[in-house]
Amino acid sequence: MHILILGSGGREHAFAWKIAQSPLCEKLYVAPGNAGTAAIGINLPISYNDFEAIERAVSEHNIGLVLVGPEEPLVNGIVDFFKSKPALQHVLVVGPDARGAQLEGSKDFSKTFMQKYGIPTAASRTFTAQTMAEGFTYLSAHTLPVVLKADGLAAGKGVVIAETHQQAKETLLDMLVAHKFGEAGSKVVVEQFLKGIELSVFVLTDGVSYKMLPEAKDYKRIGEGDLGPNTGGMGAVSPVAFADAAFLKKVEEKVVKPTLAGLQAEGIAYVGFIFVGLMNVKGEPQVIEYNCRMGDPETEVVLPRIQSDFVALLQAAATQNLANAELSVSAQTAVATVVVAKGYPGEYPKGDTITELGKLDEVLAFHAGTKLNGQNVVLTNGGRVVAVTGMANSLENAIRKSQKAAGIVQFKGKYYRKDIGLDLIRLKD
Ligand code: AMP
Ligand code: GLY
Repeated sequence: MHILILGSGGREHAFAWKIAQSPLCEKLYVAPGNAGTAAIGINLPISYNDFEAIERAVSEHNIGLVLVGPEEPLVNGIVDFFKSKPALQHVLVVGPDARGAQLEGSKDFSKTFMQKYGIPTAASRTFTAQTMAEGFTYLSAHTLPVVLKADGLAAGKGVVIAETHQQAKETLLDMLVAHKFGEAGSKVVVEQFLKGIELSVFVLTDGVSYKMLPEAKDYKRIGEGDLGPNTGGMGAVSPVAFADAAFLKKVEEKVVKPTLAGLQAEGIAYVGFIFVGLMNVKGEPQVIEYNCRMGDPETEVVLPRIQSDFVALLQAAATQNLANAELSVSAQTAVATVVVAKGYPGEYPKGDTITELGKLDEVLAFHAGTKLNGQNVVLTNGGRVVAVTGMANSLENAIRKSQKAAGIVQFKGKYYRKDIGLDLIRLKD
């Protein structure tokens, strides 16, 4: 089968690495890809939001399966686009349609969905410019801190945890009136603050059956000790020691099953990944958010632990045959450290030469923001530049491998967190 992956980050490089190992994959294409994916498959210079160009590439290269990496094309309806084209009916697409992608594309939709289907989540209310006065009254009486979320996609930046009522009201104004997040902030979800430990659970579904993939913990803040602004993710660990079998069983029973039942009740035929962001509140799962895709950098620790043929799993999901598919998971621990450009998550330079990638022998190096220049030299091309994944029988050794590699990779102004996974060692002890 010829396979096309859409996207250009570490997640997509990890997908490409795993898919290329499958005997079912004859030829692999990535659009637009990065320097890492260019070494495994063929990069196509196409934006993942350019559906017509993707359609042409699918016909030209005889693609049988498309795996959609990022949320944006899903929310924009790439799956609906494929379904609407007679010439594309035979192409398997892994990803939900636009309605299913609303689980991530609209916080208001996902909160309403969770409330309707009894999925545990923080109490919330949604406000618009028309109901702002009510919003102010609601905020004045709210416990602190209080969480405000722009309804639409905001590249991980649309969540504000307000410590005072004043800040909460200013945030509501910023979103609803000053349009700080554009259209994404035309509705705002005001939500109770949850105190607990966060983790991410990943599910692959064909709409009816599902497989629970390995769970992971993400390190979202730029600074060590979880300080400073939010990023796309500075590192990840899988498995997560505090998520024991009993907790994961609760997640499956109280979150995953009712989520799938809810999607079916809504008439949404969901194919693809559901990424559930959870808070473990005193041993009970509470859903913080859904994403309609895999996480980045979580994929860089989840996929290395999957031992089964990943293409067979994707194919089974896209053909409603997941119940018969096999999933086996390695007991090893995987730790990814993301090496980022100076200034990230703010402004950062691009085009700096990356060296020493060839010296990484103990890790998987997944390119996140890289590109090749004309001379085959790897250059930085994003805020998150490379994710290095160490695998070992212990968390400590996996951390050591990943951190050592993060220290070896070189480019001007590089930065990485030195505390990825250390909190989990402390929790264990
Ligand atoms: P989200 O975009 O919904 O993932 O939110 C970004 C981050 O804000 C989450 O990863 C949490 O760390 C934090 N967050 C979101 N909602 C809550 C909440 N209700 N209570 C505490 N923290 C939250
Ligand atoms: N690492 C968080 C995400 O992919 O949304």
